[in-house]
Amino acid sequence: MIKMFQLRAERIAEWSNNNPQPPVRVELHPTDRCNLKCRFCWQSSVDTIDTLHELPDVKLYEIVNEAASIGVKEWIISGGGEPLVRKKTTMDILKLIKKHHMWGQLTTNGVLFNKDDIQTVVDIGWDQIQFSIDSPDEKIHDYLRGLDGTFKKATENARVLSNVKERSGKKSTYLGFNTVLNRLNYKKLPEMIELCYDVGFQLVYFEPIYAGYVSKERLSLNNKEKEEMNTYIIEAIKTAKNLRINTNIQQFMKKQLIDKSNFENTVLRETEQHENAFLAAPCYQPWYLMGIKGSGLAGCCSTFEIGEKIHNKTLEEVWYGNVFNNIRKCMLSKQLPDYCSKCSVVVVMENKEIRKRLGQILENRKRNSFGLKFKKLVGLIK
Ligand SMILES: C[S@@+](CC[C@H](N)C(=O)[O-])C[C@H]1O[C@@H](n2cnc3c(N)ncnc32)[C@H](O)[C@@H]1O
Ligand code: SF4
Ligand code: SF4
Repeated sequence: MIKMFQLRAERIAEWSNNNPQPPVRVELHPTDRCNLKCRFCWQSSVDTIDTLHELPDVKLYEIVNEAASIGVKEWIISGGGEPLVRKKTTMDILKLIKKHHMWGQLTTNGVLFNKDDIQTVVDIGWDQIQFSIDSPDEKIHDYLRGLDGTFKKATENARVLSNVKERSGKKSTYLGFNTVLNRLNYKKLPEMIELCYDVGFQLVYFEPIYAGYVSKERLSLNNKEKEEMNTYIIEAIKTAKNLRINTNIQQFMKKQLIDKSNFENTVLRETEQHENAFLAAPCYQPWYLMGIKGSGLAGCCSTFEIGEKIHNKTLEEVWYGNVFNNIRKCMLSKQLPDYCSKCSVVVVMENKEIRKRLGQILENRKRNSFGLKFKKLVGLIK
């Protein structure tokens, strides 16, 4: 992880020196189709999914090959929809990414895996798999996911995956849960950590809920529930320590970080004290991350809504093109796109780390250039 932040900061330092760099990470949604309709997901508020513009297999493989050749290092394969609904294509993408020795994470609802797929992801040395599990309680998970039997199937697959990994002797695949924090699970945080341990996984990654899609019922926490949650967070931290499970739950001790709504101010607040335009940029993703949705729309961050269709363009043409450059220009003048209001605390924390490293790189660069000038001045070098 430390290496990942350093590389991002190094590439952004080059951008600040008028030397544009390729993305470090691509977040790819192979499809917007899904086998579920979870109550908190955007899928629950649409009747039909546009599959007409889904990128064809050959274009997706071309994107992976091009990415490898220009210096992309990391992949997040997620949705949109459920990547394993388009199973053969997704599995081929995973294999291709590993063939090019890039790092990859797959996010899945865990229901559609079979034993062969599980064996494949372990055999190819896939780096990280996140199963979306929203409660340690079967009934609540199935209620949130909108279909009975999903908890049973996903946790069964999680156990098979841990066993196959253990038997293979390869420790490389890192296994975790993604859990959307909401009104129905905030009292079960320690039990979530226990379930993770029980299935043989290593991480519980809590996601703040984006409440924008939820119209029929309240799933986000009210202020009283946010206050109450601190007790469960403290308990969960203790449980995680005892069971040696990694988690980001400590990030949610500050109650304003639990929801994703109205986030621009949090993003902007972090940047006020810097004079250098790049150090003062509210968010760095536009310089290191390309997102590609199931519709083929590409944008320069993980939560984008403004972008460009990649169907008839290369990855480089889109990455260095006018649409992305305009977003970068706006970011440098602190004009955030509207969709930043839906962003998450995780991005703010990552930006903080990148800003720290970028500051060090720019400071070293200044010192070295001053040293060089001084040596030239006193005649030590020509
Ligand atoms: C959109 S899903 C796509 C991948 C796959 N279908 C799954 O459920 O894991 C990616 C992640 O977003 C999470 N998610 C869905 N709706 C959300 C919301 N309203 N707020 C926060 N996270 C959400 C899911 O739980 C999942 O972990
Ligand atoms: S969270 Fe994942 S599984 Fe659930 S509806 Fe959304 S895309 Fe499908
Ligand atoms: S939505 Fe805004 S703050 Fe979030 S990653 Fe994208 S550009 Fe950055």
